[in-house]
Amino acid sequence: MTCRICEAPTESVLDLGACPPANWLKRTVDEEQETFPLELEWCRRCTNLQLTYTVAAERLYRHYLYSTPRSPSLGRHYRELVDYLAATGVIRPDAFVVEMGSNTGGFLAKLAPHVGRVLGVDPAQEIAAEANASGVPTIPEFFTVDVARAIIDEAGRADLVVARHCLAHNASPHPMLDAALAALTEDGHLVIENAYALDTIARGEFDQIYHEHMFYFCVGSMRTLLDRHGLGLVDVRHSAIHGGSIVFVAARAGKAKPSDAVENALRAESTGITHDSLYAFADRARATRDALRSLVLELVEAGRSIMAYGATAKGTTLLNFTGLTANEIPYCLDGTEAKQGRFLPMSNVQVVPEHFGITKPPDEFLLTAWNYEAEIVEKVRRAGNARSRFIVPIPEVRVR
Ligand code: TMP
Repeated sequence: MTCRICEAPTESVLDLGACPPANWLKRTVDEEQETFPLELEWCRRCTNLQLTYTVAAERLYRHYLYSTPRSPSLGRHYRELVDYLAATGVIRPDAFVVEMGSNTGGFLAKLAPHVGRVLGVDPAQEIAAEANASGVPTIPEFFTVDVARAIIDEAGRADLVVARHCLAHNASPHPMLDAALAALTEDGHLVIENAYALDTIARGEFDQIYHEHMFYFCVGSMRTLLDRHGLGLVDVRHSAIHGGSIVFVAARAGKAKPSDAVENALRAESTGITHDSLYAFADRARATRDALRSLVLELVEAGRSIMAYGATAKGTTLLNFTGLTANEIPYCLDGTEAKQGRFLPMSNVQVVPEHFGITKPPDEFLLTAWNYEAEIVEKVRRAGNARSRFIVPIPEVRVR
């Protein structure tokens, strides 16, 4: 295939097999689902990591079920991000901020008191309606150049365009960057946040790979992508959220002087994202798969009950690559109402409300939302379940 950032030929890194998109939860066990290849490849030239096969965004996002969880660690992350944007002068009290892929508006709600005006844009109809109902104005559309122009006509140009965990979620990031550029003032900034490929690789997080994640950005590949749109990196900021994320701050090329953090990250990537490290990552993914499968089968054989915790997209990749199903793990707890009663694709594990973990505590939880380990363990213990153990699958299989 060819790199969707720089068009050089790509090489396969890890084949996770064919499966339905991770967020396609089924209404019934028998529902037939289309499957698509799930394979990670990389570009030696610009170090971009991407999926070989991409599913159309219209099919993935119009009736998206993912709604950002109300979580203390996420709330903290939003606050830190707002403080950082204020301290670096990226936002000012009179700024107009547009966020694409704004989901239920959680980040904009935290940002709103610090800026003049906020506006969300999100194609998921039900989710955008929820954001509007909660007081965060949200246009229920994909963020395109036409939508950007309509925003300018109505409200003027944006001082800041935000793209958190959404730029990697489309077959091509180019139209979204075109739209961002169309919306921005001359001195405006673009803030992009995504899972950080260097963490994904170094921590063996193969379950970050699913159809909705079409790119795995690092500073090197982001620099190449931005350059193609006349943009340049100003700064990068790493955070531990979602297993390791990175915030990229960009401005128009003539006005972008990269910080030391950008140079330091590029140096780390020159040894951390290489042919050898990627093939070691693929070997480690297969080792984790084998270790987790053996552990779960042994526990089931010994008569122990297991529930998954968190109907995450990651969990779907984890279960399907490991070949674990409702036969071993009948239920998965999740607080998202829209997911409850549904079944995870392929594995047929049924999603149930979190109180099941208290009223019917299993012997073991498989922590499919391992990125929220501390707060989920604390929540379960605080609710009075002192009994269940936790199997944490990533970065290596561990029981606590
Ligand atoms: P995410 O890792 O993609 O943000 O997904 C987290 C999922 O885990 C989401 O479906 C909500 C669920 N979840 C709970 O059910 N309870 C919790 O306490 C947390 C933190 C997440």
